Amino acid sequence: MTETGSDRDGFTEEQLVGEGVTAGIVRIGDTVRRPVRSFTTTIHAFLAHLHSAGFTAAPVPLGIDEQGREILSFIPGDVPRQPLPAETATEEVLIALAQLIRAFHDAASGWMPPPGAVWGGLPGAHVVGLDPVNGEAELVGHRDYCPGNIVFREGLPAALIDFDLAKPTTRLYDIANALYWWAPLLHKLDRAPAFTDLDIPRRVTVFADAYGMTDRQRQDLVPLASRMVHRFHLTARAAADLDPVFRHFWEAGTKDRMPRAEAWIVQEGPDITARLTHLTPDRPR
Ligand SMILES: Nc1ncnc2c1ncn2[C@@H]1O[C@H](COP(=O)(O)OP(=O)(O)O)[C@@H](O)[C@H]1O
Ligand SMILES: [Mg+2]
Repeated sequence: MTETGSDRDGFTEEQLVGEGVTAGIVRIGDTVRRPVRSFTTTIHAFLAHLHSAGFTAAPVPLGIDEQGREILSFIPGDVPRQPLPAETATEEVLIALAQLIRAFHDAASGWMPPPGAVWGGLPGAHVVGLDPVNGEAELVGHRDYCPGNIVFREGLPAALIDFDLAKPTTRLYDIANALYWWAPLLHKLDRAPAFTDLDIPRRVTVFADAYGMTDRQRQDLVPLASRMVHRFHLTARAAADLDPVFRHFWEAGTKDRMPRAEAWIVQEGPDITARLTHLTPDRPR
């Protein structure tokens, strides 16, 4: 994860590398410095709201440094990389993640973005245009629960980082994104080894119970996730034409993984919905 960096003003700069999307991320002491983007001011306001609402499992926004970089608190713990390690394949991990996201959503839902709020997005998203979400935004979601954006402590998901793709969306879209990475909603061939033979419909149900998904959300999950995966496919292809980092991701596997994921969800979707909507007496409506 880290390399030795330069020494500046008595502090060592340690390079931080995630999925390789954002260059120039460093750790200095208890802080992380990241390049400022058009959406940084909006995200700082959102992160400040989360903390004031009592959700502390996200970086604290600490302003801009003398080099014009955003300053965030460093969150101690372990950040997994792909392929996901075997110890992250347990249902305890899935339950802790669902509870973390539920707490995040409950804090996020009280925030109204300021006028002129600016949001990020993947390169290619504007080309595709298509929105997987039907209906009104309910909150600002994280929208990118990939392994490199979850900090684990004592073996369980403990905090969320990297809010670069956060924007107004629905709870259900954010849930679908988390399940895409962590159920995961992928063909066997594209899962990390420890996830290959897991019962994915069961895992989706475990997540749903831990989050407290409503009957409506359970009914709507698979149709939404299908649209989301289709859009991931189109966006990844468009991004490959626009950005060399995404061109590399496409050639290195996305071009095979996304059509397989689309076909997989068509095949498995009915079973997922059937198990998710199997009535139990004490479920929120
Ligand atoms: N606030 C933070 N606390 C702890 N680790 C962080 C923090 N921000 C970034 N990192 C580390 O740096 C990596 C890359 O940062 P991230 O913000 O996810 O950028 P990218 O856009 O490249 O995914 C993360 O996967 C994580 O290991
Ligand atoms: Mg990241």
